[in-house]
Amino acid sequence: MSHESQIKVNFDNEPYRNEEFVVNYKAPFNAEPRPERLVQSFITPIEHFYVRNHAPVPVINPDTYMLKIDGLVENPVLLSLNDIKTKFEKITITAHLQCAGNRRTMMSEHKKVKGVGWGIASLSNGTWSGCRLRDVLMYARAMPFESGAHHACFWGLDFGCPEDNGKSYGSSITMEKALDPTGDVLLVYEMNGQTLPRDHGFPLRVVAPGIIGARSVKWLDKITVSSTESESFFQRRDYKIFHNGIDWDNVEKNWDNHPSLQELSVQSAICVPAPNSRLFLPFTLYGYATAGGGRKIERVDISLDGGQTWDLAELMGENKGPCSRYWAWTLFRYTIKSIDSKVAKKINIVCRAWDSASNTQPKFVGDIWNLRGVMNNCWHNVEVTVDPLCSKF
Ligand code: MTE
Repeated sequence: MSHESQIKVNFDNEPYRNEEFVVNYKAPFNAEPRPERLVQSFITPIEHFYVRNHAPVPVINPDTYMLKIDGLVENPVLLSLNDIKTKFEKITITAHLQCAGNRRTMMSEHKKVKGVGWGIASLSNGTWSGCRLRDVLMYARAMPFESGAHHACFWGLDFGCPEDNGKSYGSSITMEKALDPTGDVLLVYEMNGQTLPRDHGFPLRVVAPGIIGARSVKWLDKITVSSTESESFFQRRDYKIFHNGIDWDNVEKNWDNHPSLQELSVQSAICVPAPNSRLFLPFTLYGYATAGGGRKIERVDISLDGGQTWDLAELMGENKGPCSRYWAWTLFRYTIKSIDSKVAKKINIVCRAWDSASNTQPKFVGDIWNLRGVMNNCWHNVEVTVDPLCSKF
């Protein structure tokens, strides 16, 4: 946001937002729900779904809206919203979106990083309806991979991104993901069964499940099939992960030799109880676990002693796949029945998830510290006081 003062942008037409949001940045709007909201339902209600905007929300007339498809295609096309809804099969998926900056604040507490601070709730789980990007690319007769058609580049209509000199937001995914019949990349016009809300990309957005939220471009203006990744700042100069020897004084020569982030890693966090709560036993804690690339969450471990000994959390089971397409999150719970103390005691509750490739979360935030504060998926912990003398029953 450092360039913001140089760019004149107008935030007069922002949509209504839930006042309960934890607002991390006001304009452009960046907000996450209170963590306990996340575990109240498998599908996050729209009013609690996190919002990550880099510019003002554009005002788009759906009647005149046109999506452009060009680049390495034999049949460059313009499609109206009606074309999108009527020419292509309507598909619905359940998928979570997660910002690569989720849990950045915690990383910044270890050593300062640049970027909007996020707690543990810059992710949400929704249902998305629209057509397959694959069908649209085939309609435009995307050229074969051998002719250089390697990337599907998306541009939004939200001009005024301060980081990119007022340009609109852009990003890209590989054509491999875009064309994969099981990749489920959609051009979405409905969210949770309702017209896609303005904050989430009305009238049309990309939802590319299993990969970082940054690639799911909202207010979609144009798709260009290209031999190279998106030229956008957000593909080339942001959303990359470095080791801790790279900092702002030497990052410039490293941007181009590091890949842009695509698949999400494995993640979990405890949403209830909040840190520093006083718990009366028995107490059930709740959290979420997510994996990238459609992998399944196989297991969530809970420790009540700061990570020395572990037990299994109960997975709440709504995430049914299929196969390697576990795009949704998995919610979990664990009941603390007793502790080995007769007096009130501080304990450190820790969670870590494992996915179907046996990926798990690193222990220390310091091991994955990076200057942009992305992909913080270290063990999550909450310190609470357990009071065995006061029982709920
Ligand atoms: N698309 C556009 N056009 N502009 C944006 O600012 N933000 C991206 C992505 N798509 C963004 C965008 C980021 S960083 C994330 S994490 C997701 O949208 C957030 O989607 P949501 O606001 O619907 O939760």
